[in-house]
Amino acid sequence: MNTSRLFIVSNRLPITIITDDQKFKVQPSSGGLVSAMKSYLAGTSENKHNNFSETFWVGMPCCRPAVWSEAAQGIHESKFTYLPVFYNAKAYECYYNGFSNSTLWPLFHYFPSFAEYNTEHYNYYIQANEAFADTMIRHLRPNDVVWIHDYHLLPLARLLRQAMPELTIGFFLHIPFPSYEIVRLLPRSWREELLYGMLGADLIGFHTMDYATHFLQCIQMVLGLEHNMHIIQHENRLIKADVFPISIDFTLFDNAFDDAKVSVQRAGLQDKFKQQRIIFSVDRLDYTKGVSNRLKAYELFLQNNPEYREKVVFILVVVPSREYITKYAERKKMIDEMISNINSKIGTIHWQPVIYQYNSLNFEEMVALYTSCDIALITPLRDGMNLVAKEFVASRKDQQGVLVLSEMAGAARELTTALIINPNDEKEVSDKILQAMEMPSGEQSKRLEPMRKRIADYDVLTWAADFLNQLNAIKVKQQEFQIK
Ligand code: G6P
Repeated sequence: MNTSRLFIVSNRLPITIITDDQKFKVQPSSGGLVSAMKSYLAGTSENKHNNFSETFWVGMPCCRPAVWSEAAQGIHESKFTYLPVFYNAKAYECYYNGFSNSTLWPLFHYFPSFAEYNTEHYNYYIQANEAFADTMIRHLRPNDVVWIHDYHLLPLARLLRQAMPELTIGFFLHIPFPSYEIVRLLPRSWREELLYGMLGADLIGFHTMDYATHFLQCIQMVLGLEHNMHIIQHENRLIKADVFPISIDFTLFDNAFDDAKVSVQRAGLQDKFKQQRIIFSVDRLDYTKGVSNRLKAYELFLQNNPEYREKVVFILVVVPSREYITKYAERKKMIDEMISNINSKIGTIHWQPVIYQYNSLNFEEMVALYTSCDIALITPLRDGMNLVAKEFVASRKDQQGVLVLSEMAGAARELTTALIINPNDEKEVSDKILQAMEMPSGEQSKRLEPMRKRIADYDVLTWAADFLNQLNAIKVKQQEFQIK
């Protein structure tokens, strides 16, 4: 039996505690990171893919310790134990809304004009990482495996490495890693500290080869470090940077097609929209997701193809996210206004062109929509991977439906038989909507088949096993190198 334990570390835990006066509410967290790690843990039955003696999930619950203790009494997880890290509200605001989501997020998604450079935010970001390290060091043993996730925690690996040099540490970035020209916009001391922070890990994972290449170029340009076949030699250690395209639980989505609840909901949708074709999209509220471009392209499609008026609806679901950040609140207002303009300008008494929900969907509702729509319209301006695209493909056991996908999503590197668009080209998106509407059933299944195979072959369990195996392999290589 392996005596080492796994510590999964992310800013957000799989549950979010919402506090309101004296009351609190526990709700599932949203986003690609949480859904992938939850699927990985759920799939580790009989420890087939996880031979650790115990698993912990470390994260910030965003509430006071007393509220957490009360909330935690009602939560039972069989696959892992929560390890909460507490940070006061003002500091959290600067670390999360500030440096993480108003500096790193816009920069790494190529929105440099949205990025703020605020020293106080940066200092709280470093301190938040120190709070993670302090909590973890109290629990860690030298032979434990730590798997750090995402841009909130770039400095953490180095902080842990300095305190416990023997640890095995993996880091995975869930968002794009941008080119050097973007990274150099960060003040010199910040970009150096962040890159050295990542190099505290033994294995650094990215979704695509482009992101890994940008990282390797950055460490050369910023830190003067060379690599040989993705292996960097630094402080008497070997560190590997490689590609691990994150995935989903294919079987879960594939099986859901026949689920009783999903079937009932699908029948309801098909009945309600029997006169219309359905275009569907679901995203977190984010300026990176390209919702306004998508709406403009849909409007253009209706203008250019009037025969489709009253014969199509666009079901647009936006999941609330980061609403306290001005750029997000502005985006929400802009989307609301655009939808109401389209509906009032083009709609009729009998027909609403856009059906809009600003809320999350549960699993059955989501799969019912994936499996009743004619087109999944996924048009981010930038996206690390985009798991919605993979979920749609995996749900279509019937091999019907068309995926229209932005070339700016990491997923476009794998899902190459989708109709690939550039989200800034409204005419192209509108033309591809028409092509999708008119695509013969045989072509739909021909395009879906290789994409379904790809996701079935490299699902989330394979992704996690691949990452953890390579982490182990680089550690072994590193020990051999240190002995020599
Ligand atoms: C993306 C990020 C995750 C994040 C998620 C939801 O998927 O890569 O790290 O958790 O968005 O965003 P939030 O700010 O609500 O955690």
